[in-house]
Amino acid sequence: MKPISIIVAIAENNAIGKDNMLLWHLPNDLKRFKLITEGYKIIMGKNTYYSLPKRPLPKRTNVILTDVKDEQIDDCLMVYSIDDVIDKCDNEKENFIIGGASVYRQFLTIAQTLHITWVHANFEGDVFFPEIDSKIWIETDVEHHVKDEKHPYDYSFVTYKRKE
Ligand SMILES: NC(=O)c1ccc[n+]([C@@H]2O[C@H](COP(=O)([O-])OP(=O)(O)OC[C@H]3O[C@@H](n4cnc5c(N)ncnc54)[C@H](OP(=O)(O)O)[C@@H]3O)[C@@H](O)[C@H]2O)c1
Repeated sequence: MKPISIIVAIAENNAIGKDNMLLWHLPNDLKRFKLITEGYKIIMGKNTYYSLPKRPLPKRTNVILTDVKDEQIDDCLMVYSIDDVIDKCDNEKENFIIGGASVYRQFLTIAQTLHITWVHANFEGDVFFPEIDSKIWIETDVEHHVKDEKHPYDYSFVTYKRKE
């Protein structure tokens, strides 16, 4: 099975975005995202691609999902279905699903690892991450951070693995 991981930042009420934007600015989360994903394939829906302030994201293979047949975006690898994503994923290296909501929903049953940033506040969102079922997922690593002058909310980095 190809190693596929989800990486996402989620509010307490499961909100992950609004108006095709993120809901917060947390520099340490962006740093962690960069550290974890650089050098790997990052897979995203077309809305998420167009929400990126800088695109494609450097030092990573940007893989973009669209239903629009034959659409091409410069310097990106285009894919047209979930099977197509899996086909293009690396065999040995981790492959990261980076959003958005529709793509997370489709990969939650496929991924083996979740890299979650829990943002400890509620937000008004228009897209949400599904519930993480503790019957299916086990926490393997937890790192808590309290708010500071650059981070207006407490947040936690939590890794989950799919139970055998
Ligand atoms: N908090 C976080 O960590 C995080 C991370 C990423 C994104 N987000 C947020 O999530 C929101 C965007 O999510 P979204 O659900 O609106 O959009 P999305 O998942 O980024 O993109 C949806 C598009 O992807 C394509 N697509 C998805 N599944 C496909 C499939 N199986 N086959 C072919 N194409 C497929 C379609 O593109 P076409 O329309 O071209 O067919 C679809 O319209 C934004 O608010 C963003 O800020 C949050």
